[in-house]
Amino acid sequence: MSAKNLAKQIQQFEAPAPISWKHYLIDGQMHTWNGDMEQVYSPMGPINDDGTTQKQYLGEAPTLDEAAGLKALDAAKKAYNNGRGYWPTASASERIGAMEKFLEIMKTKREEVSTLLMWEIAKNKSSAYKEFDRTVDYIEDTIEEFKELNRRGSKVARKGAIISQVRRGPLGVVLCLGPYNYPLNETFCLLIPSVLMGNTVVFKPAKYGVLLLTPLLEAFQEAFPPGVVNILFGRGRTLAGPIMKTGDVDVLALIGNSKSSNALVAQHPKPNRLRQVLGLEAKNPGIVFDDANIDLAVKQCVNGALSYNGQRCTALKLIFVHKSISGEFMKKFSKAVDGLKLDHPETDAMLTPLPERNKVEQMQAYVDDAVAKGAKVMNTNAGAVSDTTFFPTVLFPVNNSMDIFHEEQFGPVVPIVEYEDLEEVMDSISQSDYGQQCSLFSENQATIAYAVDNMVNQVCRVNINAACQRGPDYLPFTGRKDSAVATLSVHDALRSFSIRTVVASGDDQKKLVGSVISSGESKWMTTDYLL
Ligand code: G3H
Repeated sequence: MSAKNLAKQIQQFEAPAPISWKHYLIDGQMHTWNGDMEQVYSPMGPINDDGTTQKQYLGEAPTLDEAAGLKALDAAKKAYNNGRGYWPTASASERIGAMEKFLEIMKTKREEVSTLLMWEIAKNKSSAYKEFDRTVDYIEDTIEEFKELNRRGSKVARKGAIISQVRRGPLGVVLCLGPYNYPLNETFCLLIPSVLMGNTVVFKPAKYGVLLLTPLLEAFQEAFPPGVVNILFGRGRTLAGPIMKTGDVDVLALIGNSKSSNALVAQHPKPNRLRQVLGLEAKNPGIVFDDANIDLAVKQCVNGALSYNGQRCTALKLIFVHKSISGEFMKKFSKAVDGLKLDHPETDAMLTPLPERNKVEQMQAYVDDAVAKGAKVMNTNAGAVSDTTFFPTVLFPVNNSMDIFHEEQFGPVVPIVEYEDLEEVMDSISQSDYGQQCSLFSENQATIAYAVDNMVNQVCRVNINAACQRGPDYLPFTGRKDSAVATLSVHDALRSFSIRTVVASGDDQKKLVGSVISSGESKWMTTDYLL
């Protein structure tokens, strides 16, 4: 079937009632915006005969100006007060108490947030709920890990003539910018650990996936002291650029594109002051060896390349297949892709419309470039279904003259390369600008042993006979080269948003140190064990 005919099969559902959201949170106050608003449309809606979509209206959110952004920064600075504010000096149990309060309110918003998540960014229904639940679990696990961190910090050591206590302390004001593909989970994986460690935050959602955060603003307002979490809506260029130029941001926490992070970092006048916690592009390769279980490799590669239409930083974005099995692999892979269900996210279909404007044109441009340079479109349903929907396109044989060989497509185009010499594959992986993860497909012990040893210093996670993925969240999530700065996980994120700090004295101060601790007057110099 041609892609255009698939349009008729996409079901329609009634969108939630539009939300006109005019608020933003600064210094504990819910402000009302009377200026320009951004209209929010779903990528879903009835498709006209000419392929345009009657995108359903979901509501509107403020397009705040520079002054509002700088006001949020001032509030975060005031709350941090150079590390002397209430929040950075609060005890672990005070911070945990606030976070638990937030979590309690957040849990009541599951339905609203998940529904908006589905309608705004076309994430299928079960994945939308999963994103919410995974985020709740992440917060609960982070609280437990934070307790553990504090327990370790409650120890006073004595070595030689030195008495010391080591704890992790906050870094300062965090500018937090999340991505559109995991607007809740990935944003909160930055925001929650930074707040728990005693930092104060200015947070702005990505371009898409904005309204889904609005049900949570009151929870932030109620749970945290004024200025600890400040939430803005609007454009990055208007808000984030001027905030960075002040030089008052201590941490840039961003999941997204290196172009945006590089531009923001370049605007900061004091680069040594600025820490970066970044999750950026990736071009995760899959290697299907001649001794692979082809059916298993096909299944994992289809899922790895195309779940949520390939809009995952961990998606498989380039697949290398050994020449001796490429015929069978391509036949099975193309058939499996054509068999995928494309529909409204409400139906829980794996393939759904694409939220980014012009995404269909971008995907078509990758296909046109590759075809002009010798690749073929291998599956029947491939291509544009409407102006917001693109059925996955399998390209073969792809080579390094094509744009899609090097660039992150972040969408439903699957480039497949045929190889004979593994050295060529290894070379192209080591020359890539990215180094997040890879997947190896083989049933042979010697092949896997050799490939693992050759890949572990190219990427940060090697998956054996499985697609790439971030989870489970206790595992370190990071990347080499242009793919990431710092490491995220329940354990690591608390460390990425803090710094080790020592209080030390000579042995001769034993009595004084002991009395400070036993007086209970210092929140920092305490050996209280957090239960
Ligand atoms: O977009 C990148 C995400 O971190 C991917 O997470 O592997 O759980 O889909 P995931």
